[in-house]
Amino acid sequence: MAEKLTDLVIPQHIAIIMDGNGRWAKKRGLPRTAGHRAGAKAVEKICEEAYNAGVKYLTIYAFSTENWSRPAEEVNMLMNLLRDYLSDSLTNAKKNNMKIRVIGDRNALSPDIRDRIIETEEASKDYTGLNFQIAINYGGQDEILRAVKKIGERVKAGDILPEDISVKTIEDSLDTAGIPAPDLLIRTSGEQRLSNFLLWQLSYTEFYFCDTLWPDFGKKQLLEAIKYYNTRDRRYGGVK
Ligand code: IPE
Ligand code: IPE
Ligand code: MG
Repeated sequence: MAEKLTDLVIPQHIAIIMDGNGRWAKKRGLPRTAGHRAGAKAVEKICEEAYNAGVKYLTIYAFSTENWSRPAEEVNMLMNLLRDYLSDSLTNAKKNNMKIRVIGDRNALSPDIRDRIIETEEASKDYTGLNFQIAINYGGQDEILRAVKKIGERVKAGDILPEDISVKTIEDSLDTAGIPAPDLLIRTSGEQRLSNFLLWQLSYTEFYFCDTLWPDFGKKQLLEAIKYYNTRDRRYGGVK
């Protein structure tokens, strides 16, 4: 088995459900917020490692449409972390030559966060290294619902006929328009569910689950996930 990234086929697009920040903190007798802070550091590290490994697209689940149900204090803290991340994002973007894009429904976010998102996307749009998608107030069902509404509006306006709606029409209406589907999905912390992440896009993605809690996920764990990916035989419904 290959021990170095250079001996492996590198997935073009990796999606990550970063889970286990709360349990990481609890194990250390710290508040959950400390886990989120450590989780944010792990994100920076993994962008760098993914970029160095040759990954072209990295999509991370930062805040789900369901995460609003957490205690207000935790939600506020997560939003503040996001603010900080977006403020530093240009330094990060430069370092990894990273084009940043936010997916999810930003209408429910504070106006200042929305502005920071627009600034970050605009300022990083010409970087040609890692394409980094951050899912914020993202839910797969919500994304599909918003896409259906957009297409409905186009039908109403006479732009498109119902019989001309294709898979491509739907893909072009999703937040991930223009981004290839993930090749590998990683979920940390032992949970084995999608929790409403990229429901459409993961239709033929390989899934890798590990027990590592997100703040502990680094280069070694990424290599393990990519090694696992290299053992898979992707058949896409065909025969090999
Ligand atoms: C993932 O860690 C981060 C977010 C969902 C924002 P959790 O906060 O879900 O951590 P656990 O699952 O409670 O350990
Ligand atoms: C999924 O993790 C959402 C993010 C990682 C942002 P959760 O911890 O919210 O998922 P559940 O509640 O365990 O399904
Ligand atoms: Mg969790």
